[in-house]
Amino acid sequence: MNAARVFLWALLGGGAALGPVAVSPVAAAEQQATSATTVNMDARLKARGLDPAAVARGRVVFDAHCVRCHGAEGKGKVRNWREPDASGNYPPPPLNDAGYAWNHPTEALLESVHVGSPQGYGIMPRWEKKLSEREMGDVVTYIKSLWSDAAYREWMDIERASQEP
Ligand code: HEC
Repeated sequence: MNAARVFLWALLGGGAALGPVAVSPVAAAEQQATSATTVNMDARLKARGLDPAAVARGRVVFDAHCVRCHGAEGKGKVRNWREPDASGNYPPPPLNDAGYAWNHPTEALLESVHVGSPQGYGIMPRWEKKLSEREMGDVVTYIKSLWSDAAYREWMDIERASQEP
């Protein structure tokens, strides 16, 4: 049981059965460490200008609709995603640092999510009729949260360049 669960369980009254020592000092320390990590994560997202609430919502969308192809946390599932498979389609790429998503400005990422594979040649579904604008925006925000600081910095240059007139 992880610390967050112990905490929740204690909150829900599960701890009462244990008598006075509902949460052990170790669990309490873990609990503190967990919330410190969460705070650091939020700070990291905020430093990027990403809204933690949007990232959290985007993760739910991703886990419901995207994970089966792009893998958990966008890590990808197919090793040779750069080469077309037997049917001539490109396999789903990773969306974390290992792929190219961080080379693409927000507008291009949103476009991919809206319309799917370029010109319909490929297996990336078209999401614009299945997801709301907010869900599509949130899932792109979540994808940005998957990148390392180094990739994110490069992406910011690409984003800025894309917005120049
Ligand atoms: C059936 C498999 C499949 C599912 C499900 C899927 N994708 Fe994809 N996705 C692909 C493939 C394949 C590509 C590469 C496009 C191509 O070459 O056809 C792609 C490309 C992308 C790209 C462009 C990557 C880049 O480098 O710019 C983004 C962004 C993306 N997907 C996001 C999503 C999101 C968000 C979802 C869920 C809402 C999703 N995908 C669901 C297969 C899938």
